[in-house]
Amino acid sequence: MIGRHRHLIGLEGLSREEILQVLDLATSMKEVLSRPVKKVPSLRGKNVVNLFFETSTRTRSSFEIAAKVLSADALNWTAAQSSTTKGETLLDTAKNLEAMRPDVLVVRHSASGAPNFLARHVGCSVVSAGDGAHEHPSQGLLDCFTLRERFGSLEGRTVAIVGDISHSRVARSDLHSLPKLGAKVRLCGPPTMIPLGVERLGATVHHDLRTAVEGVDAVVMLRIQHERIGDPLIPNTREYSKFWGLNAKKAAEWLEPGAVILHPGPINRGVELSSDVADGPRSVILDQVQNGVAVRMAILYLLAGGAGEDRPEKVSA
Ligand code: CP
Repeated sequence: MIGRHRHLIGLEGLSREEILQVLDLATSMKEVLSRPVKKVPSLRGKNVVNLFFETSTRTRSSFEIAAKVLSADALNWTAAQSSTTKGETLLDTAKNLEAMRPDVLVVRHSASGAPNFLARHVGCSVVSAGDGAHEHPSQGLLDCFTLRERFGSLEGRTVAIVGDISHSRVARSDLHSLPKLGAKVRLCGPPTMIPLGVERLGATVHHDLRTAVEGVDAVVMLRIQHERIGDPLIPNTREYSKFWGLNAKKAAEWLEPGAVILHPGPINRGVELSSDVADGPRSVILDQVQNGVAVRMAILYLLAGGAGEDRPEKVSA
């Protein structure tokens, strides 16, 4: 359980304490990953199924590695190689996999609400690995973890999230978590990519990149979610990059010396982020990826019911 929750569908319903429970446990999990032998028996005998209806590099791999480091067995299911190509429904697919007795189903789907729907129909825990433009809770948690690791605390910090906010499940999970840890959030992008009324979630809205990023502690750069956009929302990527892309010159002139750059990946280099920033000294993008394993270990451990004596910090290498 994460606090009161048997599933992890989003961060909107998680309290500050429940978010901190995951982050604190992830700190112990990260220590396990630094050992010469990256294996603890905490989830021995448990099964994790990765049910991915959309492509993924980071999320699927890190849930798989997280399960294996904790000694759980992990099965990777992909839509293209499944009987969904013969017309099997989402629910039938999940029910059939549930019959094989997994402890956790990790679900990515293009439809917002798909993991929530499955959580109401299966007996095991369900974790959303990103659903439509709804939420990407494990990404939100790893963003919080990475920023807390860098700054010690998020209290009083300011984070700008720049790009296609409307279609970004990462932006939504960041918005539902960063303020609970004490951070202020600024949103920035073209007017067509900022949802109306988003200020009610506690963020300020900017359309000018310089105004949005001046004085902040961190900038989360997002790619344009072309797969979720029907009609074009911007004239072209060149113009987008000119106004909302971040390059080394803008970063040097507008950002505080200690400000860091995050990106959930995949990066569209030269569009939202130039390579000299993505690979430069401010970038914590690969820290995010590394921390993603530790955070997902914590999520799996809490939901699959790891026993107290098997907590990783109590298990020697
Ligand atoms: N951040 C993220 O969700 O990346 P993937 O699509 O590669 O999993």
